[in-house]
Amino acid sequence: MSIQIAATVEEVRSKVKEWRKEGLSVGLVPTMGYLHEGHGSLIAKSVEQNDRTVVSVFVNPTQFGPNEDLEAYPRDLERDAAFCQSLGADLIFHPEPQEMYRPGFCTHVNMDILTETLCGASRPVHFGGVCTVCSKLFNIVGPDRAYFGQKDAQQLAIIRRMVEDMNMDLEIVGCPIVREEDGLAKSSRNTYLSEEERKAALVLSKSIFLGQKMVEEGETQAAAVKKAMTDLIKAEPLARIDYVEAVNGLTMQPIETISSPALIAIAVYIGKTRLIDNFIV
Ligand code: PAJ
Repeated sequence: MSIQIAATVEEVRSKVKEWRKEGLSVGLVPTMGYLHEGHGSLIAKSVEQNDRTVVSVFVNPTQFGPNEDLEAYPRDLERDAAFCQSLGADLIFHPEPQEMYRPGFCTHVNMDILTETLCGASRPVHFGGVCTVCSKLFNIVGPDRAYFGQKDAQQLAIIRRMVEDMNMDLEIVGCPIVREEDGLAKSSRNTYLSEEERKAALVLSKSIFLGQKMVEEGETQAAAVKKAMTDLIKAEPLARIDYVEAVNGLTMQPIETISSPALIAIAVYIGKTRLIDNFIV
């Protein structure tokens, strides 16, 4: 039997209701699809920790800015469904935008402070869209746990903050970054890269590994770490830096001295493709 795909909120609710009657626990893995091993690690974790796993596949229009890649974002539901099934997931929620955003929709979940730095500074509408869609997904599915990757470290911190602030009744589980063999963090957007750009994109993980090594060896000055990472990236002609930042791991506010919990995060354009990577202290 192939994995069930629900297109409506009602279908998801009735399925979860059945499971709840049987006393089963439910995990949710929110995604935008075009799944890879990074998503796979979240799905596997959910399957391990819950009786049933729902994977949402929804390219959420409200988290894309006007000049971003909403239309171009890669999609392949058939392949995603096979992948989810192979990992033991039970249900895919794949709504159309008009199912998630009904006519008259005008309620938004926004957050201050954590959303104002790093990716939030260069993508002003992004995290409002993420908070809004994740609130909706949590309300639709009502999971015991939801799974997010450390790859999007600011997103993970924001979701944890939102759940805390709004008293949402679920546990947020963070999962480590999954990388390609050569170090590049796996991302659906890696498919945008030409062969030459794919090679150039290695500066991201190289600079992350360099920064991590400096901190492990005792460097505590954020400026020194950021400078070394920046210099490494600048040596790659196809790379253009959006940011190289050191922030407090909970508040996302810039820090001068690196101490736990800290997040060192970068965003770099390789040609037209914007990629991110990070490490936590
Ligand atoms: P998407 O980019 O599809 O990512 C879905 C989840 O997979 C996120 O939690 C992300 O951090 C995680 N992920 C992606 N690449 C990963 C990697 N290499 N290693 C570990 N985890 C990885 O993030 C989103 O979608 C959206 O913003 C969403 C939360 C679904 C809201 O629309």
